[in-house]
Amino acid sequence: MVVERIAVIGTGYVGLVSGTTFAELGHSVICADLDEAKIAMLQRAEIPIYEPGLQELVTSNVQKNRLAFTSDIGEAIRSSDILLIAVGTPTLESGDVDMKYVHHVIATIVSHTTSAKVIVIKSTVPVGTGRRVEQELRTALPHIQIDVVSNPEFLREGSAIHDTFHPDRIVIGAEQAEAGKRIAALQSALPGELLLTDRESAELIKYASNAFLAAKISFINEMAHVCEKVGADVGLVAKGMGLDKRIGPHFLNAGIGYGGSCFPKDTRAQLKIAQNVDYDFKILSAVIEVNQLQRERFVDKIKDTLGGKLHGKRIAVLGLAFKPNTDDLRDAPALDVIHALQSLGAEIHAYDPAALHHASKLLRDVQMYDDLYDAAYDADAIVIATEWETIRQMNAERIRSLMRYPVIIDGRNMFRPDEMSRLGFTYVSVGRAAAIHMEAAI
Ligand code: UDX
Repeated sequence: MVVERIAVIGTGYVGLVSGTTFAELGHSVICADLDEAKIAMLQRAEIPIYEPGLQELVTSNVQKNRLAFTSDIGEAIRSSDILLIAVGTPTLESGDVDMKYVHHVIATIVSHTTSAKVIVIKSTVPVGTGRRVEQELRTALPHIQIDVVSNPEFLREGSAIHDTFHPDRIVIGAEQAEAGKRIAALQSALPGELLLTDRESAELIKYASNAFLAAKISFINEMAHVCEKVGADVGLVAKGMGLDKRIGPHFLNAGIGYGGSCFPKDTRAQLKIAQNVDYDFKILSAVIEVNQLQRERFVDKIKDTLGGKLHGKRIAVLGLAFKPNTDDLRDAPALDVIHALQSLGAEIHAYDPAALHHASKLLRDVQMYDDLYDAAYDADAIVIATEWETIRQMNAERIRSLMRYPVIIDGRNMFRPDEMSRLGFTYVSVGRAAAIHMEAAI
């Protein structure tokens, strides 16, 4: 194996995980970021994000001298042959992608490059970015060989390490076959199908994949409403659908909709990409709208269950992160739900095993607990917003004895309605009217 010298620019989620992975695969990696405080933390082997398994991998690769951190981006560029761009690409008010961090990195590359480089764009960027960046760099550095390759990242938060070492596919978009093959060789030890494409296709595959997965979620959430009306169980409907290999069983869990740093941002960006070429991507508009409605309808469901009035009611919200195994609250459904419940006069007590530190900066007038029994104490109702394993394992009888009223409104369908009913709870979930009716009939 050829050991490459790689600089990763941007030590956010994608940068840190990718850099650590390339070090683990035996390459010499320097991760660079303008944020000096973050780099100082990383140099002390403190990980600024919550990601199972990352700490151990960072520590072992730093010890083996394959992984280092610096806030001197120029030095990282000068000492490496492959530059991975992994800076943030947030969404602007207009829906367009904010490219200011990418532009800043390109300007830094221009100032510090004196030898040939392959530049790999890992950040999720609009179609055509790779081509434009390559033109810009070649114009600015006419005597130096510069190739720009697109290598999108598909990892999920909370299982990033597993996903990176067990990818379904590795997508590499390149104009020059040599550059593409060199980036493929970096990852040749990884399983998963290698797909070599043109740059534009690689850039679109990332958006198309996230938009399609978001569509699966909004689809099943709409089905859940139909299930409630006709007396069916959305879990069984999803199971039956998923047994068809063309549909597949994944991403068909009905609930309170998707959140996080990727789906909301990437669906809006894909819609804008289509609009910019005069195409009205109707399905995607509906996917986004349904996701927002799902949160509002869930609040209506809570209100209806509690008799229409929330004023003065104490509600224990279990789970704040946008999904389990992360402390990430970006676009978390729980935040919208809490704000809506507060505006209706409810008093909120919240539990999350990982996200309380971030939550305390984002939520006002919420009592926070790292123990779910403390959060449930004297509550008029429990609302489940994130399917944390600690919630699944809770002692339901103890919870019931602590609550003022044994009412659970479950936005993640974590429990069996008949079982919860047997335990004495009024249990309301999403798209499972059949089970509720059956209990009522007993
Ligand atoms: C996602 C993609 O999966 C990943 O490939 C991409 O690189 C980044 O975006 P992530 O945001 O970490 O990853 O989370 P993911 O596990 O995909 O879940 C996204 C959201 O969808 C969560 O809020 C989750 O609760 C929700 N979801 C997921 C559902 O509501 N139902 C499902 O069936 C699956």
